[in-house]
Amino acid sequence: MKRLRHRPGSIFFLVCSFFVLSCNQTYYKADHIDKSVVAHRGMVVSAHALASEVGVKILKKGGNAVDAAVASQFALAVVYPRAGNIGGGGFMLIRTEEGNYSCLDYREKAPGMANKDMYLRPDGSVIDSASIFGALAVGVPGTVDGLISAWEKFGQIRDFGKIIEPSIEFARKGFAISQEEADRLNQYKNDFQKFNPFPNPFVKSKAWVKGDVLIQEELAQTLERIKIKGRDGFYKGETAKHLVITVQKSGGIICEKDLEEYQVVWRSPIETKYRSYRVVSMPPPSSGGIALAQLLELIEPFNPGALGFHSPESIHLMVEAERRVYADRAKFLGDSDFFDVPASTLLDSSYLSAKMKDFDPGFATKSSSIQSYDLPDREHFETTHTSVVDKNRMAVSVTTTLNSNYGSKVLVEGGGFFLNNEMDDFSIKPGFPNQFGLIGNEANAIVPAKRMLSSMTPTIVEKDGKLFLVLGSPGGSTIITTVFQVIVNIIDFEMTLDDAVDQFRFHHQYLPDKIFIEKDGLEQVVKDNLQAKGHDFGTYERIGLVKAIRVLADGSLHGVGDRRSDVDVEAY
Ligand code: GLY
Repeated sequence: MKRLRHRPGSIFFLVCSFFVLSCNQTYYKADHIDKSVVAHRGMVVSAHALASEVGVKILKKGGNAVDAAVASQFALAVVYPRAGNIGGGGFMLIRTEEGNYSCLDYREKAPGMANKDMYLRPDGSVIDSASIFGALAVGVPGTVDGLISAWEKFGQIRDFGKIIEPSIEFARKGFAISQEEADRLNQYKNDFQKFNPFPNPFVKSKAWVKGDVLIQEELAQTLERIKIKGRDGFYKGETAKHLVITVQKSGGIICEKDLEEYQVVWRSPIETKYRSYRVVSMPPPSSGGIALAQLLELIEPFNPGALGFHSPESIHLMVEAERRVYADRAKFLGDSDFFDVPASTLLDSSYLSAKMKDFDPGFATKSSSIQSYDLPDREHFETTHTSVVDKNRMAVSVTTTLNSNYGSKVLVEGGGFFLNNEMDDFSIKPGFPNQFGLIGNEANAIVPAKRMLSSMTPTIVEKDGKLFLVLGSPGGSTIITTVFQVIVNIIDFEMTLDDAVDQFRFHHQYLPDKIFIEKDGLEQVVKDNLQAKGHDFGTYERIGLVKAIRVLADGSLHGVGDRRSDVDVEAY
């Protein structure tokens, strides 16, 4: 089936969402989802059609890629509450039309009262799920400061109201939910009730069904306060009061001072050259940029393109690179403001070539099996990525998260938004796996005001000095391998963006010592061959949810939303 839908720039396309009149109530409804679009001017690929549409409308009104990205992020906080957020954090990579990069870190921080052993009993054992569910799991949110900082520095539309008003409208008037959203809300009903024993918009007596309208009036009021007061509308005053009361009455430790003191950090990106391409991505406290650069440099000398796509040889090579890179991640990566991350060594070519000295094309290297465990049941699609390109080819690659679906499941009473459970991304005890099965150490230990290590990998690729690819994905620990494989599919296996994103994916993260594959993804004969080399397998329902834009040879934009979910491309 050819899914590509061309949209010549000269044709003013139909607005994809519309108001619906029903019992005197107007609400929003996305009328279609596009997965693959070619257009000439600008493009937004996000997890929700309404958010993509908001971004494109901003572009059409003369906004640039940052205006569009910020507006769509606020919209996602309403229409994609499982991961879009104002109660979480994220990373934004910006490439200006002149080709200059800025990297914005608005990751959550540990509260001032946090300490290294806060999830341990006196005997050193881990308190079950305390870093995953409930108010103690919440890190100090960074999203509102992040989005406003990006807009203040780069936005072209100087009226912030125009950026945030669409999200206020979505919250106040409501929007019709999809089947996937209905399923998700039903799945978490018990958690919503357990952690929020007060009436709230996410719980109703009957099961949610497709087409039900989700109205979030308290969230609309919070967004109004942000519209009027900027960051103070979140970090001070009424919203801050609601947040602190909610958290503290449920056993959490965030206080007013934590919120007042929250600040984003502008950082220098990590970059590497892969073949003739320049790959730019996020530095610590995300592991994404360093890990992606290491992966690409480790496989480059082995010419994966010559080994055959998804052949046992190419999968083995990439898995062995992944194993080695995730071992480094566990040992060396954390917030560089608190731990001396040896970034230049980790990216040094002699260090990297030494790493592959024991690579054997015939056999799997065993991850040092000092400890062995299985991944806990995991939630895969808790983060969300958005890619934006404008008519001047300014680009934004932004990934944001609450960590798990709906974060800690704690909803700010009176504020209407979910709070993250990002504290689980710290290493709560050396070698103890987090919800993604990732282990860590001192580099990622909890310290007050420190940022927890992330795997988010918002990435931009250049070819011949020009914008070539904007991409990213949710998926916890699998984000890095997802972005890695899409880039290799395009550069080494010469695929179109559709094919590069559609292909099944695999993932190895050092421990557990298994190749995780998407269900039904791998031919039995390939699997047998890899097993003969000594690999074990695990299965994930799906790996990654890519949102990507590629600049084609004629300068037009090709946007692809992953077939694996409701991801949508809008363009003009
Ligand atoms: N919370 C997932 C990540 O930041 O990697």
